[in-house]
Amino acid sequence: MKKIMLSGVKPTGRSHIGNYFGAMKQFVDLQDEYESYIFIADYHALTTLQDAEELAENSLNVALDYLAIGLDPQKTTLFKQSDVPEVCELAWIFNCLTTVPYLERAHAYKDAVAKGKEVSVGTFDYPMLMAADILIQDSDVVPVGADQKQHVEYARDTAEKFNRVFDKAKVGDFSQSFKLPTALILENVKTILGIDGQKMSKSYGNVIPLFIGDEEIRRLVMSIVTDSGSGLPKNVFAIHSLFRDQKSLEALYEEKQGKYQHLKEALIADLTIFMKPLRAKREVLARDKNVVREILKIGGARARARAAKKMELVRRKIGIS
Ligand code: TYM
Repeated sequence: MKKIMLSGVKPTGRSHIGNYFGAMKQFVDLQDEYESYIFIADYHALTTLQDAEELAENSLNVALDYLAIGLDPQKTTLFKQSDVPEVCELAWIFNCLTTVPYLERAHAYKDAVAKGKEVSVGTFDYPMLMAADILIQDSDVVPVGADQKQHVEYARDTAEKFNRVFDKAKVGDFSQSFKLPTALILENVKTILGIDGQKMSKSYGNVIPLFIGDEEIRRLVMSIVTDSGSGLPKNVFAIHSLFRDQKSLEALYEEKQGKYQHLKEALIADLTIFMKPLRAKREVLARDKNVVREILKIGGARARARAAKKMELVRRKIGIS
């Protein structure tokens, strides 16, 4: 029997090369090895995106992105988080086991507080909904970028806590309610940097989106911040390393030392070659959105059936069945 992989992307904007190399490429590379469940985290997106039209449109876009990068709906169950409403029920149950000080230690929450934001309860509770996503499908592995590592650890801790409280589980006991998931993080791409040298993030406005055309590639590469002095434009180099092997990249940057314009042109050329087939595939898929909706519908039903079964066990364990 194959082990189970699960992961998701929030539909809060266009997918970018940080999402792709940090996480989404892994979904494709691992879909044969694992029984895979990949979803669109629309309930999580609601913590920051509160516009019905935009959320619906972005969600369909993420589905198109998944298909365009090569997720095969015959192999991978593709679905929308909101088609599995049981996750909200499970998140509530986890809320009752989780303490406030424990959630206060979450990086994302602490960052929001540090920035002086008025944090919603949903943002504070984000890790428990994510734990529910992961644990309700009995996931073994969760491919993600480094910024989600702590969230997967929260899921693991929550599984252990539930098992301790409701199963009275002992170490090495395999009859426990929840499996303990592991994050899959690829060391060399765990944090992709944006055009300003900070972590690439939709909320920082420093992304290179996937599927962009030649003009946008040129405009974004030209706006990569280069530091003067060292001769090595390290922000250009960091992004370029995603599209070329280390050896040929080092040779190029050695040869063209200090010639920033030339190096940016080389990156434009490599990015253009990378984007072209992805964009073409996405354009074809985008012609018939009903096919995409149908794929999500089938995936949603499958994911929900599994979740419903799991919830029967959970309700029995806590005494409300
Ligand atoms: P999201 O939508 O922010 O990002 C999707 C995936 O892309 C990765 N990522 C990056 N990796 C490397 N470098 C970067 N600059 C970079 N930016 C983003 C993220 O680590 C992520 O893997 N909370 C999740 C969505 C989610 C989820 C889940 C994931 C909800 N429930 C259950 C896994 C399992 C999120 O906001 O990802």
